[in-house]
Amino acid sequence: MGVKIDLLGAPRRYIRDVGARRISKEESRRLALKFDQEYFDGPREHGYGGYYYDGRWVAVARRAIEHWRLKPGDWVLDIGCAKGFFVKDLRDSLPGLNVIGIDISDYALKNAHSDAKPFLLRASCDALPFADNSFAAVFAINTIHNLPLDGCRRALCEIERVGPGRGFVQVDAYRTELERAVFLEWMLTAKTFDTPEGWLQTFKAAGYTGDYSWTILECDQNIRL
Ligand SMILES: C[S@@+](CC[C@H](N)C(=O)[O-])C[C@H]1O[C@@H](n2cnc3c(N)ncnc32)[C@H](O)[C@@H]1O
Repeated sequence: MGVKIDLLGAPRRYIRDVGARRISKEESRRLALKFDQEYFDGPREHGYGGYYYDGRWVAVARRAIEHWRLKPGDWVLDIGCAKGFFVKDLRDSLPGLNVIGIDISDYALKNAHSDAKPFLLRASCDALPFADNSFAAVFAINTIHNLPLDGCRRALCEIERVGPGRGFVQVDAYRTELERAVFLEWMLTAKTFDTPEGWLQTFKAAGYTGDYSWTILECDQNIRL
């Protein structure tokens, strides 16, 4: 089994104004699940509220290069790469690193950063079009929990297959009933969410031996359970 690492920055708190999504949440979910323009660049209640390159992945890329001891010539995969910002920053941070991004969103791939676009392709995390043991590191940040549990298991097996012991998955989790309630209020696309202990069991059952972290939402106001 791998280790928990705070690849996105430590310790990170995700505080959300859950009230902003209380209205028309079902409609927002319906739109978000298309992973189309509304999700990436529509209003905040439907997703990102505008996802533009701002350099936030540079620090993550540097931590990843150090943690996985990546070197020029290595191959790296970003699963659920969206507009390719992490792909761009990995490539820029280590010239000679080969980075591929995959996503199921035609919109994100079409509107990806021009520096990353040539290295992105459309594929699903539960059926990776790559040979066994192809990658020195495989990242799936806030992506596999968008599948139902059986799809998550397939995705974990796939990550392990293409980068044995060299994966990193970050998934939605909660530790308390309050965190679970905040999560249920805020989330739009996740189909699988669990406690950290529950996720660890899922990893083990899938034979996943890479590293991991949790996205745990907190609330910026009092909500009633
Ligand atoms: C919350 S975003 C995360 C994007 C990026 N990894 C990040 O952390 O900013 C989830 C991404 O997963 C993609 N996605 C959803 N289902 C997927 C699937 N089955 N296979 C690959 N990507 C998927 C979405 O299109 C979206 O770009």
